[in-house]
Amino acid sequence: MSSRHRITLLAGDGIGPEILAVARQLLDAVSLRHGFSLDYNEQPIGGAAIDSCGVPLPESTLEACRASDAVLMAAIGSPQYDSLPRQQRPETGLLGLRAGLGLFANLRPVKILPALIEASSLRREVVEGVDLIVVRELTSGIYFGSPKGRVETDAGVRAFNTMAYSDHEIDRIAKVGFELAKERSGRLCSVDKANVLDVSQLWRERVESLHASAYPEVALSHLYVDNAAMQLVRQPSQFDVLLTGNLFGDILSDEAAMLSGSIGMLPSASLGSDGPGLFEPIHGSAPDIAGQDRANPMAMVLSAAMMLRVGLQQEAAAAALESAVDLVLARGYRTGDLMAPGCTELGCAAMADQLLAALEG
Ligand code: IPM
Ligand code: MG
Repeated sequence: MSSRHRITLLAGDGIGPEILAVARQLLDAVSLRHGFSLDYNEQPIGGAAIDSCGVPLPESTLEACRASDAVLMAAIGSPQYDSLPRQQRPETGLLGLRAGLGLFANLRPVKILPALIEASSLRREVVEGVDLIVVRELTSGIYFGSPKGRVETDAGVRAFNTMAYSDHEIDRIAKVGFELAKERSGRLCSVDKANVLDVSQLWRERVESLHASAYPEVALSHLYVDNAAMQLVRQPSQFDVLLTGNLFGDILSDEAAMLSGSIGMLPSASLGSDGPGLFEPIHGSAPDIAGQDRANPMAMVLSAAMMLRVGLQQEAAAAALESAVDLVLARGYRTGDLMAPGCTELGCAAMADQLLAALEG
């Protein structure tokens, strides 16, 4: 294991810079303690890159990411860019980064932390024990399909996108899902809309064929996406690995995130077949609270932990960051999004201090 890792840091927009600063403080502390060092390279993306370079994903940012061992990103997007043409929007920068690094597998774990069980909008008995992971295909499907666009017709304006998957794209993401299911409880639920969509029918066929040929020991089930959305709030503990395409995964992962009480707690990893992974919280840039020291930095810190574990094979340091988050919550410290009676409300910077203190034990 190399003891030096090159990290590209992408702060992005809104609360991005504040929460990334917290992750960096913790990474510095934990790397020192665990005997490795991190070389950081900060690069602009999203609105910040539009302001400084005129595009949401400068070539220099993509190059820096490619040359690093892992990429740690905070969040992108802000209403001030919403009226720009699509090619110049912050979201297009993120999609370009995912595509440019070949990050087809997006892993979004949702675990209910016992200290936060009351923060969920669902009843305790519904969310207790939830520990699932959404495996979302990230570089194809309707996000990237062509043709797409907007045309003027005699009957008016018409806009369209294409949801398409090739067999090999389904196979490689399904493989990630099956492998994870093997490491976890051995259950995989594939989510599609095969009762209506041709693309979903191919999806289901390929998942079934891979199951039969390579993963017969995994218990495979299928759900239509509408039913899956309902089951996620009805009985979420039935799920372990949820495998799905780009758009369905986008929607279901936000829904699943809410089980945990706040979207401000959830990290994610996006991985390709080789090269650096991208680690980011699943929440957005929260422009409404940006710069007010009110952001919850915990999903960002947990994303840094995921980077250490999955991207850099620094398991002990990853576990130390996760324990610090658990400990701070157990001590009753909360950011505003998680505030509950009897707890102590902290801003982002004060939460960072408590996380650093928790690292000490
Ligand atoms: C996510 C986000 C992105 C997506 C946006 C910001 C492009 O919602 O990562 O879930 O839709 O993939
Ligand atoms: Mg989303």
